[in-house]
Amino acid sequence: MDRVIEVAEFLNLAEGKPTAVFPLGLPVLLVRRGAEVRALENRCAHMGCPLTSGTLEGDILRCPCHDWRFNIRDGTFLDAPELSVKVYAAELRDGKVFVRIP
Ligand code: FES
Repeated sequence: MDRVIEVAEFLNLAEGKPTAVFPLGLPVLLVRRGAEVRALENRCAHMGCPLTSGTLEGDILRCPCHDWRFNIRDGTFLDAPELSVKVYAAELRDGKVFVRIP
């Protein structure tokens, strides 16, 4: 059964700056894009580096360790789409960000 967990205040998220949160102890990365928030696993699919200090260019997040690039919309690794990081559904309600954890 999915759990929907409050993780942040929307206004505390800086535009385009990845933010680490830990719903139910899981490493999750939030990225604010305009009025939307994306939520991804905060662990690179290569060797597990946290993606929090990665660089964001549009919808592409570059891992700080070895430059693997991921699409923040679906989590896919650009060079081999069969690899990916998990993407979680993020919802906004009353100025708060919730993440759905399966
Ligand atoms: S750990 Fe992310 S590219 Fe190597």
